Amino acid sequence: VQRSLVLVKPDGVRRGLSGEILRRIEAKGYTLVAVELREATEEILAAHYAEHEGKPFYAPLVEFMLSGPVLAVVIEGQRCIEGFRSLAGATDPTTAAPGTIRGDLGRDWGLAVQQNLVHGSDSEESAAREIGIWFPSL
Ligand code: GTP
Ligand code: MG
Repeated sequence: VQRSLVLVKPDGVRRGLSGEILRRIEAKGYTLVAVELREATEEILAAHYAEHEGKPFYAPLVEFMLSGPVLAVVIEGQRCIEGFRSLAGATDPTTAAPGTIRGDLGRDWGLAVQQNLVHGSDSEESAAREIGIWFPSL
């Protein structure tokens, strides 16, 4: 059975959507293994977003992720990595399909980075790496 790291990003927490996003995860049948409201740090984000270092949206992404608390979540369930990515929808909230978190709840605010409400691990390797970053005790 898989585990995935999910983040409700600062826009989701600020807009009061944490509960709605957890509701969708639970309604899908995934188990909540850990849920913690956290302030990200430069160190955590440098590790978490290492693959994006050097890209034009990297600095605004880190700044955005430091703009308020995030809800850090570990979920568990059969194929939950791919399953949560499907629940989340496409990266761009404008084109994310209705029925998805980003498609239903997100929009383009015209800012330097896509404020797209959630993060979800994209592979088993990423999930193990990211869970180690956010929840070293798990
Ligand atoms: P995550 O689940 O957050 O990792 O989203 P993702 O896997 O759909 O996107 P990706 O890992 O490629 O990018 C990480 C984050 O950087 C995205 O969620 C966006 O917030 C931001 N981002 C990615 N690509 C772009 C882009 O082309 N333009 C802008 N402005 N932001 C981007
Ligand atoms: Mg990603």
